[in-house]
Order: sequence, then C-alpha cells, then structure tokens
Amino acid sequence: MSAARPLPADLPRDLEAEILRLKKERNAILLAHYYQESEVQALADGVGDSLQLARAAQKADCEVIAFCGVHFMAETAKILNPHRKVVVPDLEAGCSLADGCPVDQFRAFVARHPGAKVVTYINSSAEVKAMSDLICTSSNAVKMVEHFEGQPVVFAPDRHLARWVAREANRPDLIVWQGICIVHEQFSAKRLAELRVKHPDAEVLAHPECDDAVLAQADTIGSTSRIIERAIESPAKTLIIATEDGVFHQIRRRVPEKTLLQAPGPDEGCACNRCPYMRLNTLEKLYLCLRDLEPEVTVPEEIRVRALRPIEKMLELSA
Ligand code: 13P
Ligand code: SF4
Repeated sequence: MSAARPLPADLPRDLEAEILRLKKERNAILLAHYYQESEVQALADGVGDSLQLARAAQKADCEVIAFCGVHFMAETAKILNPHRKVVVPDLEAGCSLADGCPVDQFRAFVARHPGAKVVTYINSSAEVKAMSDLICTSSNAVKMVEHFEGQPVVFAPDRHLARWVAREANRPDLIVWQGICIVHEQFSAKRLAELRVKHPDAEVLAHPECDDAVLAQADTIGSTSRIIERAIESPAKTLIIATEDGVFHQIRRRVPEKTLLQAPGPDEGCACNRCPYMRLNTLEKLYLCLRDLEPEVTVPEEIRVRALRPIEKMLELSA
C-alpha cells in the first residue's frame, strides 16, 4: 500500500457541496460504513453494515464507487464490480482481522484440516476469500455455518465471533483461526459490569467481535445494523453500546431522546474503542479521492474470480 498523501493547502471551503458536485460529475456513488464520521455518513448514497454494503455494491449502477470504510469492504465492492472504478479516501484504512490472517499462513492452516469447508468472515483479504467456500458477515455468520451442517468447518479469522457462532449454531467443533479485532477487544467486562450497576435499567447491545465476558452481559448481540435497529426499537431509555461509536449517528437521528453510553474500555476517558482504520477517512480525503479518482482499489483478476464465488454464494444464501 502507498503512503498517505499530504493534504493540499487550497482545499475548497464548502467540502460537502464540492463532494456532492463531484459525485454527480464523476457518475459516482458513495457507500459508507456505520463507523464513518457522521459528516461522511450524511453525504452517502448508502450507509450500512458489511452485508448491506456488499449488497449495495452488487447493485451499483454507476462508473465510480467511492467507498468510505476499510480496505476489505472496498475490495469486496471491486470483486463484485470489475468494470467500475473503486476509490477510497485512504488506502491505509485496513483492519486488524484482515491483517492478522496472512494468506500463506492461512493456506498452511487450512491444509492441516483436509476436507473441512472454509467459512471466512468478510473482514479478510481478497486472497483469503479466494481460498474460501463461503464468506460471512456478522449478520449472517450463524446461517452460513449452518449451511455446512454435518461437515467439518474452518472458521476465520475472528476468534470471538467464532465462539459466539459455535454456540448459536451448536457447532463446538468449529476449527478456529485465532484472530482479534483490536477495537472490540478493548471493551472491559469488569468496567461494563460497574456501568450496569450505575444504570440498572439500561439495555446492553454488543457486537459479536467482543470477548465472551462482554457478550455474556449483553441483552442483544448482533451486527452494527442489528445494534442500530434494536437501539431504535427497544423500550429502554438508556443503552450501553459495545461497538465503535460511529453507530451513534444513525441512532441519534432516529431516537434523539435516548441516552447512549459507550461500553467502557480499560481506562477512564480512552478513545480506544474507535476504529483507528475507519477514522482515517475524512471529508478532505473523500473530496480528493473524488477529484483525482485515486487511490484506486484493484484486485488481480485471477484472485478476483476465485473470491467472487464465495461472496456471491453468501449473497444468494442471505437474500
Ligand atoms: P458489521 O458487518 O457488523 O458492520 O461489522 C463490520 C466490522 O468491521 C465490525 O468491526
Ligand atoms: Fe477491523 Fe475491528 Fe476496525 Fe472492524 S472495528 S474494521 S474489525 S479493526
């Protein structure tokens, strides 16, 4: 990946208006994940979790997709859209789960389990997807594992998601790659328990990438879209949320009267529950990527074709 570009001194004053103008001029659509800054989400044609964004990318009818999320999400959009240009504000926006599962080591891991089906979380590189039988996201992981009932399954790369899926799908035999999300790993079960004592009526909503001791305290466990949905529909007036606080934007839009508390990290006042990769994307960099149509996300055709199969199968099975 190339180094981050320096920002020019002559950026337009009204970045939002320029982004909207360029979007039209370039025949581009802007897709954004729920962890993006609220001003980025506000300009997007589609905002969603990983599955919703993959679906939106599959239906894209445009010349350019400007993807505000992390690299594996934009790469998935490119795999589904070989003839469209996919650009991102910052190519350095990676993911600890994808980075922690290098293809050579994963190939050796899979080789130790001959005959096992490979279900891979979408938070992985195109190369790892290309070795998989089926891709999953946090919203359909249980269903995707259930698809291979009675057959051995390798599940990668998130070990916390894997433990939750193993329980929900009654698959204690899942063969698990031991990756972690550096953001969700930070939530402290002990400090969450203390916060619950202070707010006994609060409902706890958690992403399955959190560790088991945090999930054990959750009333609802689900993807970012499920967390947002439950926060809106729940009768609780106070919600404790164990995921990146980018999701607060959509909840506040719909239910501004509710009190949203972020599940605590290990230390008072730390911003360690913000995804440092997601937050590399800014309005300034989004403007530049639409102006210059770079940095572009590319996938070698041989890998793209192999990675497309398990992604399309997931979209088909979760339609
Ligand atoms: P969702 O698919 O739930 O949006 O999760 C993506 C992600 O990276 C969570 O950390
Ligand atoms: Fe990856 Fe975790 Fe960031 Fe999600 S929050 S993109 S899993 S590092």
